[in-house]
Amino acid sequence: MRFDRRKDLLGLRDVEREEIEAVLETAVPMKDIITRDMKKVPTLKGKSIITVFYENSTRTRTSFDLAGRYLSADTPNLTVSTSSVQKGESLKDTIKTIEMMGPDVLVMRHSLSGAPHYVARNTSMRVINAGDGINEHPTQALLDMYSILERKGRLEGLKVVIVGDILHSRVARSNIFGLSKFGCELRVVGPSTLIPSDIEKLGVKAYANLEAGIRGADVINVLRIQKERQHGALFPSIDEYRELYMVKPEHLALAADDAIVLHPGPMNRGIEISTELAESSRCVVNEQVTNGVAVRMAILYLMLGGGRDEIAC
Ligand code: CP
Repeated sequence: MRFDRRKDLLGLRDVEREEIEAVLETAVPMKDIITRDMKKVPTLKGKSIITVFYENSTRTRTSFDLAGRYLSADTPNLTVSTSSVQKGESLKDTIKTIEMMGPDVLVMRHSLSGAPHYVARNTSMRVINAGDGINEHPTQALLDMYSILERKGRLEGLKVVIVGDILHSRVARSNIFGLSKFGCELRVVGPSTLIPSDIEKLGVKAYANLEAGIRGADVINVLRIQKERQHGALFPSIDEYRELYMVKPEHLALAADDAIVLHPGPMNRGIEISTELAESSRCVVNEQVTNGVAVRMAILYLMLGGGRDEIAC
């Protein structure tokens, strides 16, 4: 499958390596556009991209909005908290109502795993999953991969460790699906209660000890503790989590000399990552945000037909 021929982007589990490469390559000229003084190109003029987020977001929704605008698409947003969803309108009826207004792409976040898949099966609009429950967050993983590639010059063979709440993390799952297609050595670290029992079936090695998991790593991806998805006590206390799993500058001494640290945001500083590390030059969290716009521009450009032409400047 070619990325520019797919109707929807629902997850990286079923996306081929060549498709990921197409997105990462296309994001390079897109990043050039967003670092210019004049950021708009006419490529997607006449297209419309609607964002519908049933869960809160700062980075993903705003970067899709800006990505569309930089490519001259219209980017309306349905604010779910002030919409007729609050009057009890179903997901099916909400999506049909939006479809009848004619947007080309629906960018959707939902707390239920599989909600974008259900929508994609029932609409002619293209659907991009902006995070569904604990399932996948494919555009986050693609921007993480772009950020790693930009700093390290390659993905192939890197040792990547994901630290934290793996059980509730759609970011972890999409990173695992994406990076495993590039022959990365994948590890996860966290309390056993926050690591899925069958994680090793995905070709991932699980560690309970932070120091052991980080040893020799090229990339350390630190995840947010997702208090909103934890419905029971999955670790004794925040203090104990901080003591055992907060990633700090001294941990970098165990990793590769040029190891980098990622975090999808928003960060719980002082819980999963220390402020000192978050603000160090080894932490690429701010680059991830900028790259998120470039990668989402690339995705929209390829899915909306821009891939059949040169990028119109
Ligand atoms: N990383 C991420 O998805 O951030 P937002 O929740 O702010 O979109």
